[in-house]
Amino acid sequence: MKFNDNSSGLALLKTRKSASAKAMGEPGPTAEQLSEILSIAVRVPDHGKLTPWRFVLFSGEARQRFGEVLARRWQEKYPEHGAESVAFQRGLFMRAPMVLAVISRAAPHPKIPEWEQLLSSAAVCQNIVLAASAMGIGAQWQTDWPAYDAEVFKAMGLEPHEKVAGFIYLGTPTAALEERPRPDPATLLTRWGE
Ligand SMILES: Cc1cc2nc3c(=O)[nH]c(=O)nc-3n(C[C@H](O)[C@H](O)[C@H](O)COP(=O)(O)O)c2cc1C
Repeated sequence: MKFNDNSSGLALLKTRKSASAKAMGEPGPTAEQLSEILSIAVRVPDHGKLTPWRFVLFSGEARQRFGEVLARRWQEKYPEHGAESVAFQRGLFMRAPMVLAVISRAAPHPKIPEWEQLLSSAAVCQNIVLAASAMGIGAQWQTDWPAYDAEVFKAMGLEPHEKVAGFIYLGTPTAALEERPRPDPATLLTRWGE
């Protein structure tokens, strides 16, 4: 039986490019679009069906309040950096109408290695990027320092074993998406036994 015979799906996969958080404006996803993005996000391979991920959404005014957390923490970490750099961090999540954090909940499990649980959260991030692209919404998967800072994690309400797999910036690109050279897959392929 033939299924998923969808040439427009293939065209999307062949041409998808990330937008840039540096050039992302309004509007962001509507409530309906966000709901659709999330329903596609959870449609990923997940060994053991553990659902080893969850989401934290930053939108509207909350982005500004989170910016205060980032600015305060940045100043603590780098007191020698100037006001301009603090202001940049304060505005980090204001660069896009919406930032969707994918949180890995990977934890020790008797059968499923944590590595596999982490891989599943990467698939969630990529599904979000693909779903957004299919809907004509710009998306960029970022991490940056807030994805590695324990104090930021606390402010986000993360449990001690949780990690940020990605902060996905979502919005309307204000500049043409840039193509970049892609690796030649033939140079990456080894045929075992030949
Ligand atoms: C785990 C992960 C973290 C990333 N973090 C950042 C980041 O912090 N800042 C950034 O500019 N790009 C980051 N990127 C790269 C962008 O998501 C993306 O690869 C880049 O914009 C090129 O787009 P494209 O290759 O999807 O077309 C990250 C990618 C991955 C997979």
